[in-house]
Amino acid sequence: MKTTKILIGFTFTVLLYISLVSFVNNSKTEYVPLQQKKWIAPASADSKINPLKGDAKSIASGKRMFKMVCAVCHGMKGKGDGVGGAGLNPKPANLTSEAVQSQSDGAIYWKIEQGRGSMPNYKTSLKEKNKWQIINYLRTLKK
Ligand code: HEC
Repeated sequence: MKTTKILIGFTFTVLLYISLVSFVNNSKTEYVPLQQKKWIAPASADSKINPLKGDAKSIASGKRMFKMVCAVCHGMKGKGDGVGGAGLNPKPANLTSEAVQSQSDGAIYWKIEQGRGSMPNYKTSLKEKNKWQIINYLRTLKK
């Protein structure tokens, strides 16, 4: 009887120790990599096609929207140097860069919808049409 009690007590202590150690490890590993991982849209996002023509009218609307909503972080020219983004980690992306411009319209659309970290999501706060207009404007920022 006594040995059973000791065994149960021992097993309990070991289990407690294991869960404590894995809890501490988990909270460590979960925190760091999220900020450092490259942000990649799923392949399925590429198949979403931009329904708008990138004509002058849609670009002008996109520019207006971008300046109102995105420029505070991404900067007036999209270089990632807006005042609102200065203290963020990671910093707002440079939207004129090859890394961003090489992505499909669908992938960029997906990121605007999803957001990540301090990048807000615009699933409901921007109309679908406005998001495509913004993307058409972003294409004019390509270096
Ligand atoms: C509050 C600041 C903030 C605002 C406002 C904001 N963004 Fe961002 N954006 C960020 C940050 C920070 C990142 C980097 C996120 C990351 O990598 O985890 C980012 C990333 C992005 C990316 C992904 C770039 C890449 O790495 O592929 C796109 C595209 C983007 N933003 C577009 C926009 C558009 C368009 C708007 C306006 C509708 C906008 N953002 C508004 C902060 C912001």
